[in-house]
Amino acid sequence: MGLRDKRMRLAGFGLLLFAIAVLFSAVSVGSALNVEAAGTAGATDLTESAISIKKGKIILKSRCGKCHAIKGPAATTLKDFKARKGPDLFYAGVKYNEEWLIKWLANPVPIRPAGFRYFKNIIVTEGSDDTVNWDALAEHVALTPDEAEMVAATLMTFMAYKGKVKKNALTEEPADAFMGEMNFDKFSGCLACHEIEPGYGGVTGPEVYTVAERLKPDFIYSYLKSPQSFDPKSMMPDKELGENFLQVLTKYMLSLEAPPDGEYDEGEEE
Ligand code: HEC
Ligand code: HEC
Repeated sequence: MGLRDKRMRLAGFGLLLFAIAVLFSAVSVGSALNVEAAGTAGATDLTESAISIKKGKIILKSRCGKCHAIKGPAATTLKDFKARKGPDLFYAGVKYNEEWLIKWLANPVPIRPAGFRYFKNIIVTEGSDDTVNWDALAEHVALTPDEAEMVAATLMTFMAYKGKVKKNALTEEPADAFMGEMNFDKFSGCLACHEIEPGYGGVTGPEVYTVAERLKPDFIYSYLKSPQSFDPKSMMPDKELGENFLQVLTKYMLSLEAPPDGEYDEGEEE
């Protein structure tokens, strides 16, 4: 091969490299523009959110599905119910507030004081209150803020049971705090299974002092009206509450507030 040929080849190679570099920067400028445009252009917005819903779905399938049902139907036998490792998520879109999901998934704090499988974690002691076997409780996996946002967006598209949730269920009439608490604690016996502040109340069900943040009001109302239509094997009793009780109890729970961050474990002192 002559020197001239070699030069020609080198020049050809250089040209090729140059072309690749140009192409590459065009692509990255293009995608930078896309990202910039995403905030304004409706069409781009749609594809962006479609992509994040897809990514959320992949995360849900690969990292969450072994503990949560992300597809219905709910467990209908006691055996299936007992085999569940976490709450059903296949109707998440009708149940949870998206803002709360984003926050909680990145920074999960306990909701059920005795865990989801409370029947495994309660130490029954004769003659005194049951106690929780704290060692049996595992910490929930935490997502990065980006992942949390994608997964929450995906969960909000899970609309099974939409027809079971009554729209605009609550009346304008304001809640009566005193009657609400009396009803919850005594008339309806809800306190036996639910905490209304950290450390105060039963541990069989989820705490209810964060429901305002966590759950959609229409969902709470409809779930109270018929818990088993959402979860056939739920331990939550159907108290056949009348309209007035449904209003009072739902509004009461919505009026409760979560303790300030970091104080979840220091519930004792009021
Ligand atoms: C090892 C089992 C396990 C895995 C894996 C798991 N979870 Fe959970 N999840 C649970 C349990 C148990 C609870 C109940 C926690 C509580 O009550 O404090 C829960 C609670 C939740 C809740 C709150 C629901 C409610 O009503 O209380 C959401 C939302 C959730 N998980 C989403 C996810 C997502 C998203 C993933 C995947 C990134 C995931 N989980 C992975 C076991 C799991
Ligand atoms: C025998 C125990 C028990 C009693 C009594 C009880 N509940 Fe429940 N409750 C549960 C259980 C168990 C769940 C569902 C737990 C789950 O999803 O893991 C539940 C779920 C709920 C939820 C949904 C919370 C969530 O985060 O998904 C609300 C709201 C609620 N109960 C309110 C009430 C009210 C109001 C009363 C009184 C009328 C009441 N409960 C009586 C055990 C009970």
